Amino acid sequence: MDDLLRGFDLTAGAGCTIIKSKNVRLIHSYDNELVIYHMRAMLAAAGFSPSDEYILSAAASELATNILRYAGTGELEISIVRNVHDETGIEIFASDSGPGIRNVKAAMEEHYSSQQNSLGLGLPSVKRIMDEFLIESIVGKGTRVLARKWKSCGQN
Ligand SMILES: Nc1ncnc2c1ncn2[C@@H]1O[C@H](COP(=O)(O)OP(=O)(O)O)[C@@H](O)[C@H]1O
Ligand SMILES: [Mg+2]
Repeated sequence: MDDLLRGFDLTAGAGCTIIKSKNVRLIHSYDNELVIYHMRAMLAAAGFSPSDEYILSAAASELATNILRYAGTGELEISIVRNVHDETGIEIFASDSGPGIRNVKAAMEEHYSSQQNSLGLGLPSVKRIMDEFLIESIVGKGTRVLARKWKSCGQN
């Protein structure tokens, strides 16, 4: 089917119960600070450890940076979610209406970047850090990323 006629399948909270949610709109580069702020607050509320707070905020920041850089504007929905196994976790749902990614497989490879001066480690690191990672991109329509991290045993 023509990409432009297609809709997105990925939605925030899919298959989970959303306990609490915060939407951060990304317009200016300093909105990335807000992402880190809300991410840390949400992680603390969910009972993640300070070291998890640090690394998971970095993951959210990578997704926010990509939106600001490649799509211009967009948003991050940060949620505390519960799955069917009654596990609690954090979800980052990043969405934008930017140009989309022509080759998602290439974009997910380490050191692949469409930019000359960029490391190309953002998306692969987010995938490595998180327990669940889904990306959907439609050329001319935008990009969505759904990433989740479950609290480890003993943290619940
Ligand atoms: N939201 C987005 N919209 C459009 N293209 C994107 C988006 N996020 C990532 N990309 C593309 O995927 C590539 C890889 O992203 P990433 O792994 O974060 O590395 P980097 O940002 O350093 O290039 C980018 O170079 C860009 O071409
Ligand atoms: Mg990046």
